[in-house]
Amino acid sequence: MGARVAIVTGAGRGIGKSIAVGLARKGVFPVIVDIDLAAAEQTVAELKAEGRDAAAFKVDVSKVAQIKDLVDDVARKYGSVDIVVNNAGILNKTPLEDLEEEEWDRVMGINVKAAVFFMKYATKYMKEKGWGRIVSISSLAGRMGGFSTGCAYSTSKAALIGMTMCVARKVAPFGITVNAVAPGTTETEMAKGFTPEELSKLTASIPVGKLIKPEGIAEAVCFLASESAEFITGAVLDVNGGMFMG
Ligand SMILES: NC(=O)c1ccc[n+]([C@@H]2O[C@H](COP(=O)([O-])OP(=O)(O)OC[C@H]3O[C@@H](n4cnc5c(N)ncnc54)[C@H](O)[C@@H]3O)[C@@H](O)[C@H]2O)c1
Repeated sequence: MGARVAIVTGAGRGIGKSIAVGLARKGVFPVIVDIDLAAAEQTVAELKAEGRDAAAFKVDVSKVAQIKDLVDDVARKYGSVDIVVNNAGILNKTPLEDLEEEEWDRVMGINVKAAVFFMKYATKYMKEKGWGRIVSISSLAGRMGGFSTGCAYSTSKAALIGMTMCVARKVAPFGITVNAVAPGTTETEMAKGFTPEELSKLTASIPVGKLIKPEGIAEAVCFLASESAEFITGAVLDVNGGMFMG
């Protein structure tokens, strides 16, 4: 059997990049998907410098036609789509009273719609093989409403959990597992969306006393994407340093 093929969205930087690197180090071939092609190519270049193979694709995950084309392209070029990590996401902090339809649709398009359509198109190939792993990156904000996040973001991350449980049931008979990982505040560019005051308050409320490292999220995703996680499906794995309810 050749290397498993994994599509990792938003893997040009941050958590997605760490996940792609983590999977590659476990012998998986990662397809690095990002709206920022230069960033995706940079991830590939860093992996190649370690002697690992990977490919970069520019995709706006809020566009369903682009998702379909990508999944079909990957299956054609690399032989299968074994693992999908729905990681690409945007933060929203707009208070409810200022929220406009356009922003709501943008957050839902990237954070929610993309994940369900990746599941739709990728499970077709996974079913043919009788094996598949799907992991979506939710958030602590989707578990308890969030601290400084807007309700669009928190809603989008909670929606991923419902989607995970629903699809997990439907595809379980085909050897496909569907899980979510819910990070607490993690050291990435996205966390720079918080003010220093918000960040120090957040850090002080994390029982382990520090922000989560992207590599910590990657470890959880690699486990759920592995052969050994066969019996875990429809689950949410919290990686939040013990910060369950603030
Ligand atoms: N950083 C945190 O504190 C934190 C906490 C909980 C959950 N998360 C979730 O983890 C995931 C990754 O977060 P991060 O902190 O690494 O974010 P990040 O902003 O550092 O990286 C996100 C990546 O997604 C890409 N992206 C954005 N919109 C896209 C689109 N339409 N199509 C394709 N790619 C797109 C960006 O170009 C970027 O490379 C997100 O889903 C986020 O909601 C992050």
